[in-house]
Amino acid sequence: MQKQEQAPVIGAGELPPEVPLALDATDVSVSFRGHRGRWNEVVHSVGLGLERGQVTVLLGESGSGKTVFARSVAGMAPHGARVEGSSVFDGVNLLDLRAAQLRKIHGDRIGMVAQDPNSSLDPMRRIGGQISETILQHRCAPDRKAAHARMLELLDVVQIREPERVARCYPHEISGGMRQRVAIAIAISCNPELIVADEPSSALDASVGARVVELLDDLRVRLATAILFITHDIGIAGRIASKPQDRVAVMLGGRLVELGYANQVLGRACHPYTRALIAAEPSGQVPRGQLAVVPDSIRGRQDWGQLVEVSPGHAAALGAVADLQSSDSVDPEVIS
Ligand SMILES: Nc1ncnc2c1ncn2[C@@H]1O[C@H](COP(=O)(O)OP(=O)(O)OP(=O)(O)O)[C@@H](O)[C@H]1O
Ligand SMILES: [Mg+2]
Repeated sequence: MQKQEQAPVIGAGELPPEVPLALDATDVSVSFRGHRGRWNEVVHSVGLGLERGQVTVLLGESGSGKTVFARSVAGMAPHGARVEGSSVFDGVNLLDLRAAQLRKIHGDRIGMVAQDPNSSLDPMRRIGGQISETILQHRCAPDRKAAHARMLELLDVVQIREPERVARCYPHEISGGMRQRVAIAIAISCNPELIVADEPSSALDASVGARVVELLDDLRVRLATAILFITHDIGIAGRIASKPQDRVAVMLGGRLVELGYANQVLGRACHPYTRALIAAEPSGQVPRGQLAVVPDSIRGRQDWGQLVEVSPGHAAALGAVADLQSSDSVDPEVIS
């Protein structure tokens, strides 16, 4: 039987409370070998649980560790990375699996849209063949003909005009935005339970970017897919994290400094870094034309401490909470 027919069709709002986490990452640290072979830790003990039917937006400035963390917990750590901690998917720690075991899961149960779509496409093979192969490899279609039809349907879903023609192109013959949409088509081809989308709309114009957000939203509603969506655009974060169960996690310097439901983090941010990010948004508190600068005293500070709950479901780094409590700007509804 085709995998598509087996996929559970559960509305996100109907999930029973005992549904396990789609992914449970605990104390994940990632290091690379640096100068004189010394390990240099770039992600420090980050924990994050992703639920079925939930979008979790990972926000943070360039270099804060979003990509390295997300790839590592999905079992796709960059070459040379040392990953510690655990990342449990369906009862299995992905960090313990061998490459061959991971290959069975990737593209089938976990879809990845890489930040650089070139890295996931084979430059020597035509677009259509690459998508069809993923579909066949994971038995998401019974035969070549069905895989071909599904491939064309997917290209249409990601709004590629003339799918027949594009299917015959090599990656270098299409634009960067189209390559990104092809990567999205591959990631969603087998209706995965988890999608890690690393800045999937950054190379796209506004309307196609909006379509990608719609597409992912539709998947999580129809199939209760868990989505980890990376962006540094607060506006997009608010659009994709649109349901009450959706969350926003904020990274700074390889650490999680704030985590909560989207309305809590985007509406009542506790951490000065999150507040600065929100203020930097053109529609935020900073007048257009002025770029809010995150002060070095915030960006450069390392000792924010562990996350503590400030209200149900909303946690922020201890240092930020202490600062808030000692300042006059304490919102008693935020700090309980
Ligand atoms: N393959 C690698 N080897 C060594 N260091 C790396 C490697 N990949 C990433 N890093 C380092 O890890 C840190 C986090 O990088 P990462 O790519 O996760 O940032 P990011 O938050 O995704 O940034 P951006 O928004 O620019 O994509 C950076 O200091 C980066 O230089
Ligand atoms: Mg990145």
